[in-house]
This record gives sequence, structure tokens and C-alpha cells, in this order.
Amino acid sequence: MIAPVISLRGRDFIDVADLEPGDLRRLLDLARDIKGGRWTERPLQGKHVAMLFQRPSHRTRVSFEVGIARLGGTTTTLSGQDVQLGFRESVADAARVLDRYVDGVVARLRSHADLLLLARSSDKPVINALTDRSHPCQVLADLMTLEEVHGDLAAQRVVYIGDGNNIANSLIEASVLAGFALTVITPPGYDPDAGVVERARSINSGSHHVTLTNQVDVNRATAIYTDVWASMGQEDERAARQKVFAPYQVNQHLMDIAPEAVFMHCLPAHRGEEVTDEVIDGPRSVVFQQAENRLYAQMALMAGLFGA
Ligand code: CP
Ligand code: NVA
Repeated sequence: MIAPVISLRGRDFIDVADLEPGDLRRLLDLARDIKGGRWTERPLQGKHVAMLFQRPSHRTRVSFEVGIARLGGTTTTLSGQDVQLGFRESVADAARVLDRYVDGVVARLRSHADLLLLARSSDKPVINALTDRSHPCQVLADLMTLEEVHGDLAAQRVVYIGDGNNIANSLIEASVLAGFALTVITPPGYDPDAGVVERARSINSGSHHVTLTNQVDVNRATAIYTDVWASMGQEDERAARQKVFAPYQVNQHLMDIAPEAVFMHCLPAHRGEEVTDEVIDGPRSVVFQQAENRLYAQMALMAGLFGA
């Protein structure tokens, strides 16, 4: 049976935690059917989506543009320089104007607070395409990938190693929603967002858990996930971070400790820093499968959020 479109109409997608477990299930089922060519509807026919990028992007921009076109919609992509949010005009004013032209907004903003303000000021659905706090669209594709490679999400043990950044925060929310065990390993002082962790722990039940540690231990991992040590906007810290993060590199020695684990990375990667060529190009790397699944996971999301 073909998975039905999830009913998210009129809602925003700011964080993974915005979804209910049933939403996630339907979304992943639909994404799988889209990928398998079993679902070819065009619910965005006649709809126009604005995409706003205050930071560089390759995967997110292209996968959204292609996904919207395949769903029958059209796009306008604006750079931060075009709109100059908060400088040329306020976030709220920009949102109110976009509202009058388009049926939905995909926004990659520097500040999560600005994204929340944009979403609050807009009557149209807003999708978070990455902020300093979270990257929920990436993690939807990651969940799809984890299910493809290892099956039941709730049976998995994901180890994230590196900076406690936007990817780490979204993975924490995903572990609560999908019920897998997650260990987040960071250098001291580079923890994930305290609010995200607190919320995850408050809804923790016996079936899943989030562990934060500074000790590198990947025993029994089914996936080892890392990300850049210095995210966009932290370029000035890159040299200092290289020293602090060096013991947290994902290399073959680490992968050998967890023979069942696939290697995951949202990309772009800084090869030779957080991951070695041997690992990212190795047989257990699923990084390009993750990148590909951005397209299908986002199409399933947009069919529910922006669709007719
Ligand atoms: N993973 C990801 O979001 O890539 P881009 O920054 O290139 O969009
Ligand atoms: N943590 C990275 C993710 C890029 C997709 C960044 O924010 O730059």
C-alpha cells in the first residue's frame, strides 16, 4: 500500500520535536515510496515557495529546488544579501511581505531566534533549513538512511562524536521521537544545547536514552556520526578547535572498535579533521546516501506542509 501524505498543513517545521511519532512514521513511509517511484503526485502544482539563505548551501538548496519542482511547484531563492534581514528590513516585515506572494518559506538563517520570529510573523508554513541551533531536515534524511541500512530505528545505537552543534541537537530530538539510543561525545565545553538535552531527558522513557560524555567510546554503535568541528559562522575558531577536537577524529582505528557501525556525516566534510579519507571513502560510509535522502525526506515533508 502507498503511504498517505502526512497531514501537517498550516504547520511550521522548525525542529524534529515538532513532529509526533506518528508523523515521523508516515513521513518516512512516504519518503520511501517517493524514492521507490511508487508515489509521483504533484501536490505543489500552482504553488510557489520562497527560499531564503543567509548562509552558504549546496545540498539543502539543490535538494529543495529539485524536490519542489518534482512536486509541481516553483521557487524563488534569495540570498542573505538580497533581503538583508534585520538590516534592510526587520525579520517580521520581511515575513509579512513574503506571505502575500508565496505559499511557503524555506529558510536557512544564522539565528534560531530569527527563524522563530519569521515563523511567528508568517501565516504560511516555514521550514527550517538550518540555524545555529538545529538542522531538522538533515536529520529526517538521516533517520531514513538509518532505517534503510539497519532497519528498526528503535533498535539502533547511534554515537555522535564532535561538536555539540545543530546536528547534535537535532539528533537528540530525533532519538526521543524515534526511540533509539544516542550517545553524544564532545570535548568538555562543547556540549549540545542545554534546553534540548533537558527536554529530551524530561520525556525520556525506559525505551530510549541520551548519554552525554567527553569519553570516546563507540562500543556496540550501529552508526558513528560526526560533523565539522567549526560550523558556518565559527570559521575564526577553526584553528583553535582543531587542537581541542583532535582526539575526537573518526578514523579507521575508531571504526574498527564498532564493526557493525556505518559512518555518517551531514556534509560538507573537512577531510583530515573530523574524519579521515579512509573512513569517509570506505565501505561503511553512507554519507552520499544521506545526501540523496534529503531530496525524498523533504519532498514527503513538503507534500504534507505545503501541499494542496
Ligand atoms: N548538509 C547540508 O545541509 O549541506 P549544505 O550546507 O550544503 O546545504
Ligand atoms: N554544523 C554545520 C552543518 C552544515 C550542514 C554548520 O552549521 O555549518
